Amino acid sequence: MNEKFALRALAFDAYGTLYDVHSIGAACEALFPGKGMDLSRLWRTKQLEYTWLRSLMGRYEAFETITTEALRFCCRTLGLPLTQSDTTALLQSYRNLALFPEVRDALDGLQGRKKAILSNGSPAMLNALVKNSGVADSFDAVISVDELRIYKPWPAVYDLVTQHLGVARSEVGFVSSNFWDICGATSFGFRTFWINRTGAPRDELGQQPYREIRGLDELKPFLD
Ligand code: LAC
Repeated sequence: MNEKFALRALAFDAYGTLYDVHSIGAACEALFPGKGMDLSRLWRTKQLEYTWLRSLMGRYEAFETITTEALRFCCRTLGLPLTQSDTTALLQSYRNLALFPEVRDALDGLQGRKKAILSNGSPAMLNALVKNSGVADSFDAVISVDELRIYKPWPAVYDLVTQHLGVARSEVGFVSSNFWDICGATSFGFRTFWINRTGAPRDELGQQPYREIRGLDELKPFLD
């Protein structure tokens, strides 16, 4: 069979892939003028680090909690005074992240296959985000790692896609901008598409994507 026609389902990472986590930079900047982007970048880095560390320790906490704890640490690191209402406001912004500009139209163009989000996000924050951005109808499932209480790139997490969509792992095209997530998904057995919007270098983790693209709008030609 032509490999292009073997994919019955598509799964998408959320944060950083469909949604621009740094769109929160404006909210950070409004609270901490001159430090918004520094905070946004460090916050994302620490948030991910905490998912991996907690997974290794066997001390799962929901992504919303991890995101809050990472925010507190980053503000202490940068010497920024963070109040409880700032925390609440910034976490609320996480439910209103911007889609990357090409995503809405690209999703509309990807009819004919089952589609899911597979994300670290807690169900409540993920469902709010998908609803608030108006793309809920684009997906057959919005899957959170919270079901398993461990974070990507733990292999069983990727298996949630096959279980929810009723497909084999070889039938799943997995799309992420996070290279380490691409490595996890490739290692699991998905056909992976790395969205590299910024010309980033590849991590040295022994795995390579099936294809590298610059935006979600470049995915379709590899499927049809
Ligand atoms: C997610 C993180 C990895 O959405 O961006 O799962």
